[in-house]
Amino acid sequence: MKDFAGKVAFITGGASGAGFGQAKVFSEAGCKIVIADIRQDHLDEALAYFKDKKAEVHIIKLDITDRKAYAAAADEVEKVFGGPPQLLFNTAGVNTFGPAEVSTFEDYDWVMGVCLGGVINGMVTFVPRMIKSGKPGYIATTSSLGGFMGGSTTAPYSAAKAAVNNLMESYYQALKPYNIGVSVLCPGNIRSNIAEAVYTRPKHLEKTGYNVNEKTIDFLRSIHAQGIDPIELANILKKAIENEQLYVLPFPNGQDMLRGIFERVIDSSSPEGMKKQSEEMKKRMEEMAKNPPPAGPYQNFEESGFGQARKDIKWVKPPMRMPPPPPPKK
Ligand SMILES: NC(=O)c1ccc[n+]([C@@H]2O[C@H](COP(=O)([O-])OP(=O)(O)OC[C@H]3O[C@@H](n4cnc5c(N)ncnc54)[C@H](O)[C@@H]3O)[C@@H](O)[C@H]2O)c1
Repeated sequence: MKDFAGKVAFITGGASGAGFGQAKVFSEAGCKIVIADIRQDHLDEALAYFKDKKAEVHIIKLDITDRKAYAAAADEVEKVFGGPPQLLFNTAGVNTFGPAEVSTFEDYDWVMGVCLGGVINGMVTFVPRMIKSGKPGYIATTSSLGGFMGGSTTAPYSAAKAAVNNLMESYYQALKPYNIGVSVLCPGNIRSNIAEAVYTRPKHLEKTGYNVNEKTIDFLRSIHAQGIDPIELANILKKAIENEQLYVLPFPNGQDMLRGIFERVIDSSSPEGMKKQSEEMKKRMEEMAKNPPPAGPYQNFEESGFGQARKDIKWVKPPMRMPPPPPPKK
């Protein structure tokens, strides 16, 4: 899709971070914007931003895990703009981190409910409406680099994002005949408010196995403060949509990084490969011990309590800290 002028774009999580960046960039490109978000304060801030702009913006308070409310939001869009959106941005997401072995059902239900269930709800609600409208369309879902690899403290999030990548490949193939394109954006770190995601965690899913408090939230804030600017990210996504590119890796060495990850997957399917990987890992751990990463927020990792188990869970070993994947051989 190359021409955005006059098209309606529905953006979940559109009132903050990556989604707000998309709202700004695609309104500049001429889209009519629907921002759907669970946080009223974020919606108010977004509305205040657009107040003096020429853009046509409609806001809807929506919890994307609520299917009835999602259908009502879709009806509202048709009423306000005379039809379903041509662009759907499944961007809303949440995270929480801690050792996989202490994860509760509620940790899975909340994170996977929003990050995977919310995307499924978006697809089931909008895809038939978009097809029936007979117009060309585009769906861009924000996943994560985390969707390509598991981590000892990222289980619900990585699992949800891996499923989202896979889901988007299915829809990419399925929707081609209808002239509806699909992209999946896989960022590493975004300058956003996702450290505060836990504030939106519903009461009935509050039981967690992880250590989460203001100190761990602050630690996460300091990490995300160093992420990619949401406007820059949305511009990369816009270019990828123009090129109808399925995967969007918004960093300079993205393809090399994926080669490293897939090499590890292939290695892990044979005893020799496993041995090779464990030797390489040992070497990288030794190198990391000799040359610790430069001072920065990661320095406070242990002390902040981030990624650890709830304090009253006493049977947990400290999580294994993995060095980043090696640069692949050319
Ligand atoms: N921040 C990162 O480093 C990073 C990295 C990779 C991928 N991502 C992904 O980017 C996407 C956007 O996140 P962000 O980092 O911009 O965070 P953000 O918190 O700044 O924005 C997300 C928005 O989604 C909303 N939201 C949360 N739960 C919702 C629900 N149930 N229904 C509707 N809205 C809901 C929040 O209120 C918030 O306004 C997410 O899918 C996230 O997983 C983030």
